[in-house]
Amino acid sequence: MTRNKRPLRFGLLFSVLLLSACMASYLSAQSASPLNEPRIEARVDVLLKHMTLEEKVNQLVQRAADSVPAEVAIKGGWEGVAARGEVGSLFNLTDPARVNAIQKVAVEKSRLHIPILFGLDVIHGFRTDFPVPLGMSTTWDPVLVEKAARLAAQEASAAGVRWAFSPMVDIARDARWGRIVEGAGEDPYLGSLLARAYVRGYQGPRLDAPGSIAACVKHYVAYGATEGGRDYNTVDISDRTLRGVYLPPFHAAVEAGVATVMSAFNPLNGVPASANGYTIKQILKGEWKFQGFVVSDWTSVAELIPHGIALDGETAARKAFLAGVDMDMVDGLYTNLVKLVRSGAVPESAVDDAVRRILRVKFALGLFEHPYAPEGNAPADIPAASRDLARTVAEESFVLLKNQALSGGAPTLPIDSNVHSLALIGPLADDAADMLGPWATARANAQDVVTLRAALAERAATSRFKLVYARGTEIWGDSESGFAEAVDAASQADLVVMALGEDDSSSGEAGSRAHLDLPGNQQKLLEAVAATGKPIVLVLFNGHPLALTRVAPKVRALVEAWFPGTEAGPALARVLFGDTDFNGRLTVSLPRAVGQEPLYYNAFNTGRPPEGIDLSHRPINPEERFHSRYFDEQNSPLFPFGFGLSYTKFSYSPLTLSVARISASEMNAGKARPLKVSAEVKNFGDRPGTEVVQLYIRLQGTSVERPLRELKGFQRVTLGPGVSKRVEFTLGREELKFWNLEMKDVVEPARVTVWIAPSSVAGSEAQFEIMK
Ligand code: NOJ
Repeated sequence: MTRNKRPLRFGLLFSVLLLSACMASYLSAQSASPLNEPRIEARVDVLLKHMTLEEKVNQLVQRAADSVPAEVAIKGGWEGVAARGEVGSLFNLTDPARVNAIQKVAVEKSRLHIPILFGLDVIHGFRTDFPVPLGMSTTWDPVLVEKAARLAAQEASAAGVRWAFSPMVDIARDARWGRIVEGAGEDPYLGSLLARAYVRGYQGPRLDAPGSIAACVKHYVAYGATEGGRDYNTVDISDRTLRGVYLPPFHAAVEAGVATVMSAFNPLNGVPASANGYTIKQILKGEWKFQGFVVSDWTSVAELIPHGIALDGETAARKAFLAGVDMDMVDGLYTNLVKLVRSGAVPESAVDDAVRRILRVKFALGLFEHPYAPEGNAPADIPAASRDLARTVAEESFVLLKNQALSGGAPTLPIDSNVHSLALIGPLADDAADMLGPWATARANAQDVVTLRAALAERAATSRFKLVYARGTEIWGDSESGFAEAVDAASQADLVVMALGEDDSSSGEAGSRAHLDLPGNQQKLLEAVAATGKPIVLVLFNGHPLALTRVAPKVRALVEAWFPGTEAGPALARVLFGDTDFNGRLTVSLPRAVGQEPLYYNAFNTGRPPEGIDLSHRPINPEERFHSRYFDEQNSPLFPFGFGLSYTKFSYSPLTLSVARISASEMNAGKARPLKVSAEVKNFGDRPGTEVVQLYIRLQGTSVERPLRELKGFQRVTLGPGVSKRVEFTLGREELKFWNLEMKDVVEPARVTVWIAPSSVAGSEAQFEIMK
């Protein structure tokens, strides 16, 4: 391979690229995918023709730039690397001046003047910290999630970050897995809607629009099915489960035009995800026609060696690359591709394809025209409008799990004017740093956070109640030295608010837990405070869904707050005092015991379902033994998927169906009219409220087992007191098809039960038939 390696004049190449863009623009048809524009392809063609093999391979290399390893220092630091054009992407920089300094060298000094793509884990905000993604999901509000992602994109792009390693769309069915906090929970339907919302938010109307950044859907794929909930562990699942449960949110993101995909750490059915040609080449790039590029997760190419499918780095690079991983994160092994192409082990056409994908994204982002971040524009403080959005998202994410009546008969929440003294107890009540949650690695900082203590103190000043605070214990501590002060504070109060839970490092990457109770001695503290007899409102901050069996009975009211971010305190104060309602609903099942995991609502029935059996009966009746059950625990979650209380109450009428029968063959041929199902939902409480009205189905009589329930729609409905509304859903091919015995994604004849419901365990039901 010989090429002219003369430096190309910056201006010359620029005009060639712009000219080609203009010439091709007349070809440019409006297309759904932002990456699929003929004018971009034309520019890529021009550039590719000028590239040497080394220059192509360099585009496939991504390095973390937050440190300067010795081999980089020798080259003159990252500027030196940029001048040689030796990286396609750098990540982990958040200072625009630093980003611009390196970019300037790449654009002006490297032979081809190709800008570097700067990436970062912008997971739930950049400077403005939103709730962790699991909390974002409990809003059940794609519009709000899109707005949050948009703000994150605007803040990130202003700092020179044009690529977010987000959203994580891994379906997570196991509460032990630490990364459950980074996704949208256990359901593929909701997960797919939110995946689209994140992509729309990050990427905006166009990738080159101001404030747009490229999204990266991760971790491809089935990372959340890790055995035992232990991070990086084995995943062995059927193709049907892969396609029916784990792939849909990725597919949704691709359909929404996501620019990049990150390949995961886990092995999948014996083939590591970052060397899995079936999922990457065949499904993602083949079946789904994905036009962007695939980046490996951090050193997951090098990890093919400990996985045991490569004995050396060169083989690892070859296997990952030939499986379809275009860019190698961190480990630098793709530099082997030069040799691998020259030896014939890797075709140069495959390198061209990978480079084309990466350049496509760079062109689509407008990086060639606007390589630099605007310096000096960052506001010193988080603007009020951004705080407002962060507070709204947080408020909508909180889930009220329990709200028992006080002795006077009124529910414990909202806190009313009869409360003259309030004790605030617990290690998370005044803990700014942990409110940010895992993966607040961008520019979020604890100084921006308003804690629950600060927000309640402000309210105490205006509402004239007395606030006493006691920390009580540490999150993971075992000292009881703070217990007496906490008990004393509780004894003097009308109401106790406790803030307990996990710290931000107990979940997230490598944050798997084998126990799902309150860390340290917090359960003991809770029991000591409960012994005062004072009513307790417990606010939980956590990334893992916790097993609350010993917790719930000790408290009158129970609030799941996850990690709410910058506006944690004000958002909580507003819902606790009833300025706004609890509108969040669970997107994960909360277990009774760790031994139930993996626990998820859309499970199969089994051949021996324990129907009609009281599973709490001890000792178990011998004649009730041979069912799919535990000897010492119930099967059901303590709090089910879809559940969440509100300050008002909703009722559901019987269902109305538009037809009683539909035809599978007509559905599959796209000829059948979709079926409509509706119910009257009424707010029969005395204040306005928002209900998340959920649609579930169950298919029976099919060629393979289908889950007991599957979510197929939802609507957030806001109703005034006494007001009702007919809520209608449509069931068409998309909702009724599944991967059948022959692994075809089709509608089959079936008996269908349909529910319109407030959660996965309740609702009004009806049946209809899918005929041949
Ligand atoms: C490893 C994590 O698994 C992934 O989610 C993250 O985006 C990369 N590191 C980059 O930090």
